Amino acid sequence: MASRGRPESKSAAFGVHMDSIKVVGGAELNGIIPISGAKNAALPLMIASLLTDETLTLSNVPRLRDVAQLMQILSNHGVDYSVNGKRSGQDELAGQTLNLTAREIVDTTAPYELVSKMRASFWVIGPLVARMREARVSLPGGCAIGTRPVDFFIDGLAALGADIEIEGGYVVVKAPGGLKGARVEFPKISVGATHTIMMAATLADGETELVNAAREPEVVDLARCLKAMGARIEGEGTSTIRIQGVPRLHGAHHAVVPDRIETGTYAMAVAMTGGDVLLQGGRADLLDTALDTLRQAGADITQTNEGIKVYRNGNGIQPVNVTTEPFPGFPTDLQAQFMALMTKAGGSSQITETIFENRFMHVQELARLGAQIHVDGRTATVDGVSMLRGAPVMATDLRASVSLVIAGLAAEGETTVNRVYHLDRGFERLEDKLTRCGAQIERISG
Ligand code: EPZ
Repeated sequence: MASRGRPESKSAAFGVHMDSIKVVGGAELNGIIPISGAKNAALPLMIASLLTDETLTLSNVPRLRDVAQLMQILSNHGVDYSVNGKRSGQDELAGQTLNLTAREIVDTTAPYELVSKMRASFWVIGPLVARMREARVSLPGGCAIGTRPVDFFIDGLAALGADIEIEGGYVVVKAPGGLKGARVEFPKISVGATHTIMMAATLADGETELVNAAREPEVVDLARCLKAMGARIEGEGTSTIRIQGVPRLHGAHHAVVPDRIETGTYAMAVAMTGGDVLLQGGRADLLDTALDTLRQAGADITQTNEGIKVYRNGNGIQPVNVTTEPFPGFPTDLQAQFMALMTKAGGSSQITETIFENRFMHVQELARLGAQIHVDGRTATVDGVSMLRGAPVMATDLRASVSLVIAGLAAEGETTVNRVYHLDRGFERLEDKLTRCGAQIERISG
């Protein structure tokens, strides 16, 4: 059943913006948590469907608000999509399979109303200009975690021969003769710019070399999918990626890589509460640095055939210093969660954020639970306390929200995390997954 158009009913399921989550702290986590497909891989993979007129089938796609939102954006460009129905014997937490077909691109404009809701939607600019030789995409605008400019995208597309103008808040790109392969050196590592220029270069004439490219597992996953679609790419996972342009790409089937940030988040939750949990389907090689850090903090972590086992007995949490870095360093998307853990460490730790300039909004909220944190520029010093106490807190972005849930799981009494719609952008059925492991957590519809 192919449905063309807007997934309003699906996004409406996530649309209750005033929902909150109530956590009663103190319970250990024990059991199995299935790990979903990675949001930050699924989004660029869905965008890659714009590169071909054949069907791209993606399995293990997480059910998230960002995915529903991107479907709406892609359908506006002319992508038909269908979602495979539930199969017998399938776990209710199994990922979904999407079929995306951009037989004809009917609109090369990505409007402000849609792009402003999710930064990753700006990335459509690469496939659109590569296939249609023009695109008009709204600037994504500001964001809570920092200024997040788009200069690397503009310079990268210009290097591939596109003419670019900024008009009325839109980036207007034209390449009437098609894109031409070139050497693109990024001044700083950027995940989104690497995804976007790599996608654009698959259909360019000649060879493109991306220097100082992002090495994140999501970039590798996108490259693997593009190769299954007929792209010629080598070097993904290293800082130099070479792409030989081809005249056209075809359909393919690709399974989304497991979510390393979701994996790390639940690992930190177990380290925080104590207990014994199997992160089913989790892959340790996607987050070695974070898992090593957790081991230093006192968690026992082993990779098994089924996933990652995380265990902490009654021993205390050790303080560990952390600096966020591009992959394979400690990910910025786990910084808030790790800070939650450090609030209960037996000593003082320093957490330095180097990727985004304003990613400490969780500090004030953690303080409401009794955490002792002092921020000086890019570094937060966390003095561990023996006890956190539940309180009402406010979520400010996706990863900050989940750090408050983790802190609440280990706090005495009741914590209410307000404005949890951020969580629905990036964590599939968080309450269900935690409840299955013994947490006292529930969603209150607002
Ligand atoms: C991706 O964002 C992720 N988003 C982010 O996850 C993640 O925090 C980030 O990578 C870093 O790992 C998705 O994958 C959808 P960047 P992205 O370009 O690609 C600067 C989450 O919670 N920069 O790698 O937007 C930028 O300001 C989200 O899931 C420029 O200066 O991040 C930042 O300082 C939040 N000019 C740095 O590069 C540019 O043109 C790295 O950002 C582009 C980026």
